[in-house]
Amino acid sequence: MQVDLRQSWWIREVEIPTRLVLAPMAGVSVQAFRRQGRRYGAGLVCSEMVSCAGLEHKNERTLGYLRVARDEHPLAIQIFGSEPQVMAEAARMVVAAGADIVDINFGCPVRKVTKTGAGATLLEDPDRACAIVEAVAGTAGVPVSVKMRRGLENGSRACLTVGPRLVEAGAATLTLHPRSARQMYTGEADHSLTAELVERVDVPVIASGDITSRARAQTVLATTGAAAVMVGRGAQGNPWALREIVAGDATEPSREEVAAELIVFARETVRELGERRAAGFLKKFYGWYVGRGRFPKPFKQELQLESTDEVVRRLLAAAPGAAEIVEELESELPDPADEILLDSMPISIYGGG
Ligand SMILES: Cc1cc2nc3c(=O)[nH]c(=O)nc-3n(C[C@H](O)[C@H](O)[C@H](O)COP(=O)(O)O)c2cc1C
Repeated sequence: MQVDLRQSWWIREVEIPTRLVLAPMAGVSVQAFRRQGRRYGAGLVCSEMVSCAGLEHKNERTLGYLRVARDEHPLAIQIFGSEPQVMAEAARMVVAAGADIVDINFGCPVRKVTKTGAGATLLEDPDRACAIVEAVAGTAGVPVSVKMRRGLENGSRACLTVGPRLVEAGAATLTLHPRSARQMYTGEADHSLTAELVERVDVPVIASGDITSRARAQTVLATTGAAAVMVGRGAQGNPWALREIVAGDATEPSREEVAAELIVFARETVRELGERRAAGFLKKFYGWYVGRGRFPKPFKQELQLESTDEVVRRLLAAAPGAAEIVEELESELPDPADEILLDSMPISIYGGG
């Protein structure tokens, strides 16, 4: 069975224009990543996980994650925490910031998060997990989604019993990354569990894990009955993978296109994070973009610089034709003044631009 990834689908009243969702990734899913994802065919994009405790305490960096641009919608903002009432208050804040969907993280396997009772540990405490979903769904006023792993331990099938309970508690959609928390990113995502989950719930399920090509996306959609696939690592420095998966356009980008996308990405990120934070944040992206045989190998090292302006200069020197594409891409960006400004946000959040 061929599944058309360009079909739209719904999460309650929110229409998602394609069957591809861009994964939330901490340290990756900045605004520039999300809006680029939308341009290349993602029907829904998601922020990285945002700490509800950080929001509660109005931590500046945490509030900075709530910057939403006009061209990102539909957008989910993901929150994590373990206290239902604090999560509900966080949900209110992310909706005020412009989220169309509130996503709850029950999948993070990192100890710093799980030891606080948040993330994947909640799969072992279904009563608390349900109380969180109920509290968030009761206050958000927008659909609530949950992203989870298969369970904590290898071989766990916890997602299959917890998932239906979360739907009863008010989740409008479930995303399953069918690896255990213990596995982290090793082994393979076992999408036979995704198929079992689809059988057990009457809300759309999103399949996450190891989707890197159109062929894989179609197989997973066809064999699981999931409403959409989620793409994470495959899209790092590679928005063209999204185009291939959604539209079947496997054209390799030219050097000019790669340089231009990276330049716009870097400038946007400087605007969002400020030069100092962006310079460090961007370093991993340089390798992701210019790798894959797109530029001679030593070029990746050449870009490990402290100044993003200097990186841009080197990219333009290596691919002069990129300048014209940059101009075109930047002319299509919405005015930053259109971003929603929350009363509670210190003005310094916007210092980056
Ligand atoms: C660097 C990185 C950061 C991630 N951060 C988050 C996160 O903040 N929230 C979340 O729910 N999942 C997070 N994930 C998991 C992804 O959303 C996704 O489920 C997982 O990577 C499997 O999909 P993939 O094989 O397409 O990468 C992260 C993954 C990576 C690689």
